[in-house]
Amino acid sequence: MTDSVSLQLDINGQMRTLKVEPRVTLLDALRDHLDLTGTKKGCDQGQCGACTVHVDGERMLACLTLAAQVEGRAVTTIEGLSAPGADLHPVQAAFLENDAFQCGYCTPGQIMSAVACIREGHAGSDAEIREYMAGNLCRCGAYPHIVAAVRQAAAHHATEAAR
Ligand code: FES
Ligand code: FES
Repeated sequence: MTDSVSLQLDINGQMRTLKVEPRVTLLDALRDHLDLTGTKKGCDQGQCGACTVHVDGERMLACLTLAAQVEGRAVTTIEGLSAPGADLHPVQAAFLENDAFQCGYCTPGQIMSAVACIREGHAGSDAEIREYMAGNLCRCGAYPHIVAAVRQAAAHHATEAAR
C-alpha cells in the first residue's frame, strides 16, 4: 500500500489539511475527505462534466485531477461560489429563475462551467454558449433552460460591468 501524503489545499479560500494516498483525485478528496459533496461524481472518467470545479479561476475536471496537483492553487467548488448567508451567485439565481434543472445532479458542474463561460467571454450567443458548455452532460435534457440561464446571467454580468 502506498504511503499517505499530507496536503495543504486552498479550498474556497480556506486552507484545509488532509492525509491521503498520492493517487487520490481532487474529486474524491473533496467528497470523501472534506465533506464537500456539492461536486458530483458522474462518469469518473472525464466525460460528463459533473465534477467541474475552478482551479485558479479556470474550470477543471476534478475526476481527472489529483489532489496533490492542486497544492498551492486556489480551488473553488460550488459551495464557494457565494459566501455563507450571502445572496446566491447570479448564475445560481439564473438557474433557479429559468428552471434550468430537473434532477439537479449535473447542476453544480453546469453552474461552474457557466461561471467560467461568462467570465471568459464565451456567452455571446446561444451557439457559443452551447459549444463552451458541450462537455457538461445533462441526462434530464435541461439544455434549453440551461442556455437561457447562462444568457440571462451573462446579460446581468454585462450590466454590472458597465456600471
Ligand atoms: S465525473 Fe468527472 S467528468 Fe464525469
Ligand atoms: S438536471 Fe438531471 S442530469 Fe441535468
